[in-house]
Amino acid sequence: MSHEAAIENLSREERTFPPTEAFAAQANLSDPAVYEEADADFEGWWAGHAEKLRWMKPWDTVLEWEAPHAKWFVGGTLNISDNCLDRHIESGAGDKVAYHWEGEPVGETRTITYSQLKDEVCQFANALKAHGVGKGDRVAIYLPMIPELPVAMLACARIGAIHSVVFAGFSSQSLADRIDDADAKMVITSDGANRRGKQIPLKSAVDEAIEKASGDSVETVVVVDRTGLAISMQDGRDVWYHEAIAGQSTECAAEEMDAEDVLYILYTSGTTGKPKGIVHTTGGYLTQTTATQRLTFDLKPDTDVYWCAADIGWVTGHSYIVYAPLANQTTSVMYEGTPDFPDKDRFWDIVERYGVTILYTAPTAIRAFMKWGAEYPESKDLSSLRVLGTVGEPINPEAWMWYREHIGPEDAPIVDTWWQTETGGHMITPLPGITASKPGSAMRAFPGIKAVVVDDLGDPVEPGQGGYLTIQRPWPSMLRTIWGDDQRFKDTYWARFGGDTYFAGDGAKLDEDGAIWVLGRVDDVMNVSGHRMSTTEIESALVDHESVAESAVVGRADDLTGQAISAFVTLVGGYEASDELEAELKVHVGEQIGKIARPAEVYFTPDLPKTRSGKIMRRLLKQIAEGTELGDATTLANPDIVTALQEAAAKRS
Ligand code: WTA
Repeated sequence: MSHEAAIENLSREERTFPPTEAFAAQANLSDPAVYEEADADFEGWWAGHAEKLRWMKPWDTVLEWEAPHAKWFVGGTLNISDNCLDRHIESGAGDKVAYHWEGEPVGETRTITYSQLKDEVCQFANALKAHGVGKGDRVAIYLPMIPELPVAMLACARIGAIHSVVFAGFSSQSLADRIDDADAKMVITSDGANRRGKQIPLKSAVDEAIEKASGDSVETVVVVDRTGLAISMQDGRDVWYHEAIAGQSTECAAEEMDAEDVLYILYTSGTTGKPKGIVHTTGGYLTQTTATQRLTFDLKPDTDVYWCAADIGWVTGHSYIVYAPLANQTTSVMYEGTPDFPDKDRFWDIVERYGVTILYTAPTAIRAFMKWGAEYPESKDLSSLRVLGTVGEPINPEAWMWYREHIGPEDAPIVDTWWQTETGGHMITPLPGITASKPGSAMRAFPGIKAVVVDDLGDPVEPGQGGYLTIQRPWPSMLRTIWGDDQRFKDTYWARFGGDTYFAGDGAKLDEDGAIWVLGRVDDVMNVSGHRMSTTEIESALVDHESVAESAVVGRADDLTGQAISAFVTLVGGYEASDELEAELKVHVGEQIGKIARPAEVYFTPDLPKTRSGKIMRRLLKQIAEGTELGDATTLANPDIVTALQEAAAKRS
């Protein structure tokens, strides 16, 4: 059932869950007036949250806005690692647990206090300096979910180096592209990663990436010993992490950073083949991520045990595993592995053992839990949970209801948070002590954010209507540009509706009460298990294979992963379609981009369905892949192709 149809099927009462009185009574925010107040003075609202941080020098001006370029807290200086670590230690919280780290191998755990984290961050920051990394230099980080990952990020932030974390599931080619684009001076990696009881090599992928990179920016590779996999170390370039920090001082002065200095680059898929380096800065980013973590999750740092089950390789992990939780002095759980290793109760075992109170995960995970069955969560004590969050894609109402019924105690609020790599922090979400939730809706803009659903011409739509999601006022954690390509920044986000209207790339609908339902991407970006994938990027990877002449890729609806990748290819003369070739092409895409980009199926066809003017009709391909009725095909030049493909698709399903 489509997302929209599923929503329509619910009665209005079934669709609305107001906060309970008990929850509202203890909530960080329970007065709806906050929305109007923040709207009336959004700069003052954000400045109030910025004041909760530790500044080295106060700002002169809250906001300078020359669309599309914003500067927040102009003139202010601070250091993020100081805010995440030193500040808490000085206030007496050094022994508080920052992370309960849980390795994938059962029984392997580490408890890391704020003091211990600070010591290791300082040691590694000193090691970075010893290897010639300084303020403004770019450092690529390609690590699994181990404590050294936040340590590396914070060490960069401490000395003002710019990190670019590359999800460890990306291929060596993807890593090479990112190293080149950012001119990274150093790569931080590990020998390998644990994945469902196996060891996946990482260091060898880094070696290949450096080989493939067209530049020669990388001077040093730092390697964490995680799995014991055999690797080769290159003399003069490669150094073990434990050797690099050995003997380094546990003190390292935090660099005074301008509020607008770059904190990190994070690459994300766009509508063209080349990933975009999203640039985030310091003061505004920390202001909004901390404010949203406190208010969206009703965070009580003294008592909550918070678990964001994302990977730090994506923005969710940057903002809501590393920066906001640490700056808010949260005790977090950080988990290395997958939810079904060694068994399908792993998440619930973790919730029970650590007494997790706030859980933040993705709809695709919830759908997998649903499929596995309620007996897994039922076998554990989940009564500690009090707030549940979701992010990454539209959540179907069935999954929302299952989350409520089987994971949270009945009345635990669910916050469906809409945001993007580009927005840095939450933008549309219920506030759990104020906003009634409806399964499938992200509800309303966070206080201070102006989210407007507009029609083709950019005019706001009426309740009950659909259109494009836009943001019409700057926000502190907004991307500042695309690394090295400000023109693309302007073209991608600001040209569609002009002026100071940010185009998010998502379709959305307002319901009769004015609540926002985000419906998914309206561009060539797919969302597979909550991961953004570019159709063009996968098409390029396919065409890169010697057998492929032309390809078209679409995201088709999938019950588990939200969307799945369907590829259609025509072959170069002399090549024959076969199951072996299909398998080879999937592997090839995996090598080019990463396993997460592998098509679920590859259809071979003598030609792609095209209009008479030669344009590929992707809409038809999507309908073919989904097995739904074909829409208007009157402009189609080669209808016989479509019939053959429909037959092939029917055979598969
Ligand atoms: C989608 C992840 C509906 C959306 C933080 C967006 C969502 C893209 C939601 C950003 C949600 C994220 N409801 N759709 N709650 N959250 N999306 O950059 O299409 O990896 O544009 O950031 O995910 O994905 P990204």
